Amino acid sequence: MKVTLSVIKADIGGWVGHSAIHPALEESARESLAVAKQNGQIIDFCVTSCGDDLQLILTHTLGVDNEQIHRLAWDTFTTGTEVAKRLKLYGAGQDLLADAFSGNVKGQGPGVAEMEIEERTSEPVLIFMADKTSAGSWNLPLFKMFVDPFNTAGLIIAPSLHQGFRFEVHDIREHKKIFFDTPEEMYDLLMFIGTPSRFTVKHVFARHDGAIAAASSTERLSLIAGKYVGKDDPVMIVRSQHQFPAVGEILEPFRYPWIIEGWMRGSHYGPLMPVAQKQATPSRFDGPPRVICLGFQLADGKLIGPRDMFDDPSWDEARRDANLLADHLRRHGPFEPHRLPLEEMEYTSLPQIMEKIKGRWEKL
Ligand code: 13P
Ligand code: 13P
Ligand code: MG
Ligand code: MG
Repeated sequence: MKVTLSVIKADIGGWVGHSAIHPALEESARESLAVAKQNGQIIDFCVTSCGDDLQLILTHTLGVDNEQIHRLAWDTFTTGTEVAKRLKLYGAGQDLLADAFSGNVKGQGPGVAEMEIEERTSEPVLIFMADKTSAGSWNLPLFKMFVDPFNTAGLIIAPSLHQGFRFEVHDIREHKKIFFDTPEEMYDLLMFIGTPSRFTVKHVFARHDGAIAAASSTERLSLIAGKYVGKDDPVMIVRSQHQFPAVGEILEPFRYPWIIEGWMRGSHYGPLMPVAQKQATPSRFDGPPRVICLGFQLADGKLIGPRDMFDDPSWDEARRDANLLADHLRRHGPFEPHRLPLEEMEYTSLPQIMEKIKGRWEKL
């Protein structure tokens, strides 16, 4: 059976500030999606949140980039925005950049990760969601999962993984894409994805049978809107087991709190902390950045779950490391490498300051 998994997210208002989602917004989303499920438009859904981002996890048979499904998500977010406005939540409708739906949520603000799959005899999937981060935050973990044998034992000892994986990389500035086959092209791949602010891994495929293994959202709102409009907190779908890495191999990269762009005002580097969903409430300096993971087994498109994958004591040391790194970075205050380089900052007073002092620069 062919099933499409769509994860569509938006920040439609924070509670309090940018720290979490008010339960009324989740409730409003569940009501909209319950109607769509009853109508048979979708097979199943799960609504969740990571920090101030609201995620709609949908299963259906309409394929990726489907107008009906994107409209359903858009309408769900606009209805939720009305609730957010009534409660005067912070930045109500933040990620809805367009005034009206135009056929696809891409380029309109929400982030989207989708894949159409032939559901296997058993289909474990992991949905990752992050807050106070940026598009490209999945580059390093995806490389670890699908290319690094020190992370993924199966690359060496499982015949179905031994051929390696194919990476689809997007240049989000030049709007171009390219494919790299690993392991043989891993050095070329790293040349690009080591700059996650520009090159992002969109999809990964198993070379064993060509099946899609991972899909991520790569929208960058500031490139769309041309100004600061939020931080493009991304989502990702990863399939697991058999010709894909095992669940534990997919989670393992998050043991180390990789330093990513985001955090306060979208303008700082900070460690990505894996947490249980209920702990995805970034409060210290609006952070540190969070990642959650919900696991499901698919059963004829039904979402059997969620299991909260980072709600486990084996991640305690990762969280502790993240807090220690956060302390160290915070001491840098307004200095790089805590604060982003000037040209990368999403929130900046630079143009106003330059304008104010423009007559005062003297030749050296
Ligand atoms: P305000 O300037 O509206 O407080 O917004 C700042 C902000 O939240 C950026 O992260
Ligand atoms: P979000 O992108 O999660 O809304 O965070 C905005 C921010 O600037 C927090 O400081
Ligand atoms: Mg926000
Ligand atoms: Mg956010």
